[in-house]
Amino acid sequence: MSCIHPAPHPKERRIIFGNLTQPGYAPDLKTYVAHGGYEQLRKALSMTPSAIIDAVKAANLRGRGGAGFPCGIKWSFIKQDDGKPHYLVVNGDESEPGTFKDRYILHEDPHQLIEGVAISSFALGVKLAYIYIRCEFPAAAKIVAAAIAEAKAAGFLGTNILGTGFSLDVFVHQGAGAYICGEETSLIESLEGKRPYPRIKPPYFPAVFGLYMNPTVVNNVETICHIPHILRLGPEEYAKMGTPGDGGTRTLCVSGDVQRPGAYELPAGAVTLRELLYDICGGPKPGRSFKAIIPGGSSAKVLRADEKIKRKVKGPDGTMLDQEIDVLDLVMDAASLAGAGTMIGSGGVIVMDDTRNMVETLNNLNLFYAHESCGQCTPCREGSLWMAKMSSRMLAGGGVENDPKKLKSIADNIAGRTVCAFGEAASWPTQSFLEKFPEEFAAIATKNK
Ligand SMILES: Cc1cc2nc3c(=O)[nH]c(=O)nc-3n(C[C@H](O)[C@H](O)[C@H](O)COP(=O)(O)O)c2cc1C
Repeated sequence: MSCIHPAPHPKERRIIFGNLTQPGYAPDLKTYVAHGGYEQLRKALSMTPSAIIDAVKAANLRGRGGAGFPCGIKWSFIKQDDGKPHYLVVNGDESEPGTFKDRYILHEDPHQLIEGVAISSFALGVKLAYIYIRCEFPAAAKIVAAAIAEAKAAGFLGTNILGTGFSLDVFVHQGAGAYICGEETSLIESLEGKRPYPRIKPPYFPAVFGLYMNPTVVNNVETICHIPHILRLGPEEYAKMGTPGDGGTRTLCVSGDVQRPGAYELPAGAVTLRELLYDICGGPKPGRSFKAIIPGGSSAKVLRADEKIKRKVKGPDGTMLDQEIDVLDLVMDAASLAGAGTMIGSGGVIVMDDTRNMVETLNNLNLFYAHESCGQCTPCREGSLWMAKMSSRMLAGGGVENDPKKLKSIADNIAGRTVCAFGEAASWPTQSFLEKFPEEFAAIATKNK
């Protein structure tokens, strides 16, 4: 069953989900071409690579994988004439809990992704691209591989694409099933057939020392799907849909305690959290109230539904003024959530109502991160397990008074002390749950006093 509702909400603007929600839309080449597919590849091949990169920059497209890095700027790190092989790697690991958008694209509109891969590869001087798909998506891997074969047979991939002299091969690579493989350098190691230990940055920025130590761009599935639409709409029109620093549309996956969960596609910054949760997702379940929201995948810091956000805003005369707003009035875009100390991340909005026990919820997250730590860095390997053991013990009735303080100290000693951002991902839930819900942790910790 799809999590994308057949009829779009009036506030939605479906671009990425535009085709796949049409009645009768099939994930094959004939259907994609009948919906205007591969026309943007034709257009791109008549442009210069730098003109395409400029268009992506002007579109203000931010990466949709979690870190939100501006896509055009990432692309401009690749030096066109360095004489080295360049690679494009599409990140289809989609392992961040609460995120369920890439799977729909891979299953239901694979040619949209392949057209994006072909255009991006042309712009980046890439002749060999990989689509890395997590092993838990075996059907997606088959569907995308079949679509690649169809595109190749029709001359949209392979040698001398559309008679332009540009050649590109694309391969699907299936991961073996680990959250860490979503981290880009770990994914590259995995693609090279090694244990997926993240590489340290610097020096191993993929754009410099990526796949096989050559310049590589790693982009999320959804990010790459936006590329044909930037050319179709024009970068200005595309950028205008969003906010100045966050162009285009964004998919938001809402799960948990709302009446109408699902994957929605909205112009970036078009709605506040309140509009998303009440108008679009139908509010809390009958008789319940919202308690907490994790706005950008499980690694993002949790927000209390009743908290006030203090922030600085520009006054009419340009001076900075203090402002206090309800958390639910935060705009759903990268800058606004960053200003509230959290992030839009992968767009996975996890909603919890007043029936949820926050120690239990944090324990679930801690068990996940302890299980998924790759083990390379001691603070993460030991610390994530230690936090999980402590929250499990507290939940089982064995809490002691010092537990919240100790938990915080462990989390504080993981974040910023690891090779990759998994350290932050594992510690932010503990840090933010303790900060936002101290009463629940104190109550459970002092029960045995
Ligand atoms: C622990 C961890 C897990 C990640 N998982 C994913 C993932 O499943 N999918 C993804 O696209 N990016 C994931 N990322 C982010 C990638 O490292 C990288 O920033 C992203 O693929 C770049 O693509 P984008 O610029 O298009 O967002 C993860 C990062 C970390 C630290």
